[in-house]
Amino acid sequence: MSTVPILKDLSFYSNPDLQKSRYENLIKSFKVNFPNDEVNFIARSPGRVNLIGDHIDYNYFPVLPMAIEVDVIASVSLNDSNKIVITNTNPNFERYTIELPANLENIDKDIRIDDVHSWGNYFKCGLIVASKFLNETTTTNSLKGMHITFNGTVPTGGGLSSSAAFCVTSTLAILYANGCHQISKSDLTKITVVSEHYVGLNNGGMDQCASIYGEQGKALQIQFKPTIKGIPFKFPVENLVFLITNSLQVSNKQETAPYHYNLRVVEMAIASDLLAKKLNLENSELVKDSNLGGFSLRSVMDGYCGEWKDDDYETGILHLQKMIDVVETKLTNKKGYSVDEICEELGISTEEFKTKYLTKFPIKFQALKLYQRALHVYKESLRVLQVIKLLSSNTSDFFNKFGELMNESQQDLDLLNESSNSKLNEICSIALSNGSFGSRVTGAGWGGSIVHLTNTEDLPNLIDSLRNYYKQEFPQISENELDEAIIDSKPGMGSCIIASTKF
Ligand code: ATP
Ligand code: GLA
Ligand code: MG
Repeated sequence: MSTVPILKDLSFYSNPDLQKSRYENLIKSFKVNFPNDEVNFIARSPGRVNLIGDHIDYNYFPVLPMAIEVDVIASVSLNDSNKIVITNTNPNFERYTIELPANLENIDKDIRIDDVHSWGNYFKCGLIVASKFLNETTTTNSLKGMHITFNGTVPTGGGLSSSAAFCVTSTLAILYANGCHQISKSDLTKITVVSEHYVGLNNGGMDQCASIYGEQGKALQIQFKPTIKGIPFKFPVENLVFLITNSLQVSNKQETAPYHYNLRVVEMAIASDLLAKKLNLENSELVKDSNLGGFSLRSVMDGYCGEWKDDDYETGILHLQKMIDVVETKLTNKKGYSVDEICEELGISTEEFKTKYLTKFPIKFQALKLYQRALHVYKESLRVLQVIKLLSSNTSDFFNKFGELMNESQQDLDLLNESSNSKLNEICSIALSNGSFGSRVTGAGWGGSIVHLTNTEDLPNLIDSLRNYYKQEFPQISENELDEAIIDSKPGMGSCIIASTKF
């Protein structure tokens, strides 16, 4: 069982000296916020970039992200009050106090999520899932009081999952503070994958798993069946670089969820139920594993083509190819389905439809594009398995082949999943003409960041051309902002606790 490491120093960063001054500033800020306290420990979890495989994790197909060096760190002291006070080195996130309930029995009711978007809500997500875990698996019945100061370098709303970095750091801090010093990566992942559901985002598990399982110098294959886990691996070529560019279009997941992210989850859940019906799988042993309680596109595939193990990519490839044909022949309305049409095909009433698909998380839509979304999932999942196959193929053409799959992914994210846009497409095409082998929007999309595959020789030219683009597009941009928008990030270490004897 692999546990979250407890470290004594910062040597896991590629530039520990730079980080040392950042940590010193965090402690200084903590001491200004809480003059009578000493820091007991620091909890930390990083952002992630997804290399390929977007909008498929909530359908349980493997994805290929890596943890990156930007992260969220939290300095913590403990006390016997019944309060948690959170502060932040970023003045935009104001001091926030949470009164703790006397016991943990009804924590998800006792801790109320504010109606307006706030960073306190994201902390409460971590608080709720950590408390539920403590209540279910330990004798702990009430929580320690805590004083915390956070510092984050993951851009917020930038597609690199600052929210997962923040929620996992918060959860880890609360667990460690309450005596869980040997927390397994597997438990921390299972606990945190649902944390953002409390702020209304019906996300999959990729971001939290990548943040927790990251290892220095290694990317990750994340599998979801039979249970979620991250498998670190090294790329077979030496001079490979992933350059990340932040489009500077902030994409706030929680606020746009009803017509962007959560709508995709619903469209794919309906597509799964409809395919199950059309393939006569409804009465079989098919597992109802979707976040909305029905089938997932993975369970439909496994029911129709037979079970396969995620390591057996050859079988997975064959099954996915078969499902692409199934979508083409069974989901024939390419303009988008209406509610009436779906109700008729599924044999359910409008009321049943609403209860099943529209109540768990609020949704806004005009038409439900089931054909496009299901096709995206099977094609994108196929590409992930093709990359996994490529990793062990000894090909001399690794860059072109991987790049081609990334470009196909971008095209489908744009046209089938509709989570890209013209500005994001423009950045991809500038990069492709200047040394990128493959460029694609990473994570949820609708803004956020783009990941480019390149090599050490082409990197300087690629960076120059993108810097020029940013200067033209954002004439007021400072050198510092430019440096932060274009990052050549190495795969970094996952979540950890830093428990030094002196802070
Ligand atoms: P994506 O989900 O596209 O990868 P993201 O995770 O950065 O991007 P959101 O999911 O919208 O974006 O989450 C951003 C929210 O997470 C912020 O508005 C804030 O509430 C919280 N958050 C993230 N980092 C921090 C931090 N360092 N300090 C305080 N709150 C943070
Ligand atoms: C967000 C979600 C993830 C995943 C990606 C898209 O980052 O949190 O679970 O669905 O979008 O791949
Ligand atoms: Mg997020």
